[in-house]
Amino acid sequence: MRFLITGGLGFIGSNMIHYLLKKYPDISICNLDKMTYAGNPANLSDIENDPRYSFVKGDIADAAIVEKTFAEFQPDVVIHFAAETHVDRSIADPDVFIRSNTIGTHELLKAAKAHNVTRFHHVSTDEVYGHIALDSDERWTEESPYGPRSPYSASKAASDHFVRAYYHTYGLPITISNCANNIGPYMYPEKLLPLAITNILEGKKVPMYPPGNQVREWLYVEDHCSAIDSIVSKGIPGETYFVGPDNPQLSNLEVIKKLLAIMERGEDMIEFVKDRPGHDQKYALDHSKITRELGWHPRYSLDESLERMVDWYTKNEAWWKPLKSGEYLEYYTQQYLTRE
Ligand code: TYD
Repeated sequence: MRFLITGGLGFIGSNMIHYLLKKYPDISICNLDKMTYAGNPANLSDIENDPRYSFVKGDIADAAIVEKTFAEFQPDVVIHFAAETHVDRSIADPDVFIRSNTIGTHELLKAAKAHNVTRFHHVSTDEVYGHIALDSDERWTEESPYGPRSPYSASKAASDHFVRAYYHTYGLPITISNCANNIGPYMYPEKLLPLAITNILEGKKVPMYPPGNQVREWLYVEDHCSAIDSIVSKGIPGETYFVGPDNPQLSNLEVIKKLLAIMERGEDMIEFVKDRPGHDQKYALDHSKITRELGWHPRYSLDESLERMVDWYTKNEAWWKPLKSGEYLEYYTQQYLTRE
């Protein structure tokens, strides 16, 4: 089986490549990645000489490079991770989100159709559904209406619609997964949990958007990879599957307190900063469809996920330390230290 993975140098994509190479001895993987700030060759340095792996540097919104990659590699399956993913960056600069997430996805769809792939799996997010009031017990299902509220989620929602349109209009065998927040190794330290862990390891405070009562669901990235593997091998073309954890719902503040307890630090490490505009209050998914139809279950509890993550970041300072300088430092200063 020949897998084209887009965005394989990013957090979830690189975890997926590790997962596939470990599980399947006889596969070929081509990784098409633009190498943005979030695409880090160090994420795959352990497998870069594996004969089953090849790399193409390129932008998915560039039709010529996409066509060339499909023509030369001839993938059976596409797993599409490549995306700009950070909400705060999308608020500051939406254009690149439309280019990569929406136009880029469409370029891939055109090539996938022209080259008759057997599956195009689109990796999406729960954020396309908007947000849920904190006092509501609602959980979204695959039938819930879309309602994106940030430039990031709007660009992903548009991409989901194009993916479905290619199924209905052209019969492209697509599947979509919408996943809860991921956590785990190789996660760029701009998102809440890797930022918190690396800040604490550096003796810095954790920036918390007030009042910290917003709710996210946190899934260990390996569980996301096993879900995508199930969908690609057993999922039905045209279908969408939600992927999420079985953890109890916790607020951001509760999650950070759990983390501080694991890292044996006090709550004085939390610092309230200016809130994100249009901050989504709560995301909650009902992932019973993938469990019922494909037999997938998440394996890791939140405690276990956090412990593993702290352990990985503690042992891999050489991986994240260089990321917290240069462009990142400029972003961090803009985001947390100079924002009006
Ligand atoms: P984030 O990791 O950016 O993921 P998303 O917004 O896509 O869910 O944020 C997770 C939650 O943590 C969200 O409610 C915003 C909050 N947050 C902070 O309180 N401080 C931070 O520095 C960041 C990055 C996020």
